[in-house]
Amino acid sequence: MPRPLSGVHLTGWGAYAPSQILTNADLERMVDTNDEWIVSRTGIRQRHIAGPNETTASMAAVAGLRAIATAGLQPDDIDLIIVGTLTPDYPMPSTAALVKGAIGNKHAAAMDLAAACSGFVFGYATAHAYVASGMAKHVLVIGAETLSRCTDFTDRGTCILFGDGAGAAVLSASDEPGGTLGIEMTTEPSGAYFIWLPAGGASRPTSDATIAAREHFMKMKGTETFKMAVRTLGSTSQAALKKAGLELGDIDLVIPHQANVRIIEGLAKSLDFPMEKVFVNVGSYGNTSAASVPLALSEAVAAGRVKKGDRLLLVAFGAGLTSGAITMEWTADPAAAARAANIGPDDVSIQAGYLEPVNPFPPALEWLLKDAAAGPATGTPDSATPRTE
Ligand code: ACO
Repeated sequence: MPRPLSGVHLTGWGAYAPSQILTNADLERMVDTNDEWIVSRTGIRQRHIAGPNETTASMAAVAGLRAIATAGLQPDDIDLIIVGTLTPDYPMPSTAALVKGAIGNKHAAAMDLAAACSGFVFGYATAHAYVASGMAKHVLVIGAETLSRCTDFTDRGTCILFGDGAGAAVLSASDEPGGTLGIEMTTEPSGAYFIWLPAGGASRPTSDATIAAREHFMKMKGTETFKMAVRTLGSTSQAALKKAGLELGDIDLVIPHQANVRIIEGLAKSLDFPMEKVFVNVGSYGNTSAASVPLALSEAVAAGRVKKGDRLLLVAFGAGLTSGAITMEWTADPAAAARAANIGPDDVSIQAGYLEPVNPFPPALEWLLKDAAAGPATGTPDSATPRTE
């Protein structure tokens, strides 16, 4: 019989979502789709889109500062910063290094982690190992994404799904009972190319040809991903429960990766678990990849869905195909979130590189900003004509 884990507690949590919204009605003006199709096939009604002055690092830093404040800590109490992301600000330096500077931490090690939508859960597992081994006392784990910058807004099969945002947690050493109980991580390379971003790496360096072929945008085999997701989320959840010595009936709330409400319902059905005990916010954010689980966790706490002593199951899947699940007994005071109430984007500043800055906002969405600046009544289908990149 496996022994439940002990000695590592989630003490802080926080999230950040940019204010710009992209609705299904907006997408109707860009590709051949409609609100009814998107809602019935995915449950998504809108997504948040990072503004021209926002990046993965800036959103990660806000969520991270909020998590540190909620934990009742100072930035310098953090020994290690892990950022799970598939949309780093740059291939190098790491986004985590930029976050470290932005939150004013002086001594932590900082590194990125590539596990796509499982990035936060894999980061949590890594953080757990550092704290449990005594190599760190407090670890900041962040999942953050600017997926709008690698989304093909001419591809209706993917552009309806993704959004931007960040979520974070602090893991701390503690002798109290509870905290993290069981963790499972899997990687299934037979699905490696179900979701991928072909160009820009060592195998297909960016060139005029890769740009012309739109290979700098995410590609996805939706149906294959869907089937594998339901299957893997279920088996990973069961494994994390078993490692904790728990049954599904012991779980008060499941917080799954928010990719598609039908995947979440498929998971609940396969586990024979009631949807009332599953947290869903995909309708408001779409799929924010590594940010999705910690964003949902923060919202679940804010919504009063999590209280001391509750047992939670966090479960994610993503490109790779990766999957990870965490079972934990929640030991923090949900009211501690009030400590982060005044933290916002003005509290972080990302160190700029020495090259001339560029506007990273997706050209295909520039009309949204123009319409927003002009006021709600002036947006016309003509002004909404998307620019082709
Ligand atoms: N609007 C209208 N019609 C559409 C759209 C759209 N946006 N997209 C596809 N269609 C059409 C298709 O062309 C197809 O038409 P046809 O029957 O005439 O050929 C029809 O709708 C059905 O298409 P399917 O792809 O079979 O639709 P499905 O029900 O599988 O839903 C979806 C597609 C939503 C993409 C689903 O497969 C899915 O959610 N897959 C998982 C995606 C996912 O979670 N990816 C993220 C992984 S995490 C990460 O690491 C990034």
